[in-house]
Amino acid sequence: MNTAASPILLGTWSFSLAAIEAAWPLLGGSKDDLLEALQAACRHADLDPEVDSVGFGGLPDASGRMSLDGGIMLSPLQFAGVCGLRRHLHPVDVARLIMERTEHTLLCGEDADDFADRHGIPSADLIAPEAEAAWKGWRDRGGRDVVDQSTDAGLRNLRPVDPGLGTSAGGRLFRPGDDSETKEGPAPVGHDTIGVLARDAAGTMAAACSTSGLPFKVPGRIGDSPIAGHGFFVEPGVGQATATGTGELISGISASMVAVETLRRGGSLRDAVQETLQRVEDLGDLRPHHQVGIIVMDHEGRFATGGFRPGFLIAVRDAEGGRLLEPDLVLRPQDDGPPESATDGFAKSVPPPSD
Ligand code: GLY
Repeated sequence: MNTAASPILLGTWSFSLAAIEAAWPLLGGSKDDLLEALQAACRHADLDPEVDSVGFGGLPDASGRMSLDGGIMLSPLQFAGVCGLRRHLHPVDVARLIMERTEHTLLCGEDADDFADRHGIPSADLIAPEAEAAWKGWRDRGGRDVVDQSTDAGLRNLRPVDPGLGTSAGGRLFRPGDDSETKEGPAPVGHDTIGVLARDAAGTMAAACSTSGLPFKVPGRIGDSPIAGHGFFVEPGVGQATATGTGELISGISASMVAVETLRRGGSLRDAVQETLQRVEDLGDLRPHHQVGIIVMDHEGRFATGGFRPGFLIAVRDAEGGRLLEPDLVLRPQDDGPPESATDGFAKSVPPPSD
């Protein structure tokens, strides 16, 4: 648990370290600076072709088309999300426009792209060549499930596992959909997102998320990342949270809301993490690929983090510099990561917390 109370940026997964580093100089004293910093962090991840769960580089839907989701939040009266963008690369930029220029809190699909056009946001090619190749591989296998879901080993491969920095995997949390990657059959993939929590010197907090969602998802599928209370939540004077992992589970328990509500009711940061992960456990019927990571910050800038299973890492940038942290709590430390046979490019530079 962090005890510092100075300006700070926190991000989900190790790939967000470069993103929050890029955003750090923007974290000045105004609300505008705070939002700019969040946008810059998410844009950085959106633009990185090595990050296979966000923006350019993210894996497409079953139709081979990208669709991007994201959101931004200052308070329960100042937030917005956007989902299903097919022509604009930076969902958080669009979400901020929705938050500031409309009375609404969520736009979707083609109308959201048109909204971005009307506000002068340039459209872009969203799919990276490697992501397109991964989709073609999946399509050529008949579009069937990319793992043998009848086995736990197969399902474990769907779980996002952070390889840490300095590995050949770069920002890849998932295997790229190449049959040669695993001895166990068609290559597995999973999904995730960048969530960023920011707090400036004045103590103002804000959160944002950006994602390409579940690889090869049913077109139109939306996860937790554009929805306040699910992928992110901010309650001024109380705290904020961002969640990452299996969007359907995060949405099912309103994970970020649960975390902040625990703080509001007088719980500690650790209580907030524990309560959120326990809610996941209590859902029952969980499968080996399910994962939820959570970062919770109180209004003084202290924070705690957790992963339902091993494999989640957190990036921090504050006055002391940038670094990666293991979660404070892993609810199921006994759960294995992906089978060793499937770890090409995924050797962990940071071992799981407790196994
Ligand atoms: N957590 C990102 C998603 O499920 O879309």
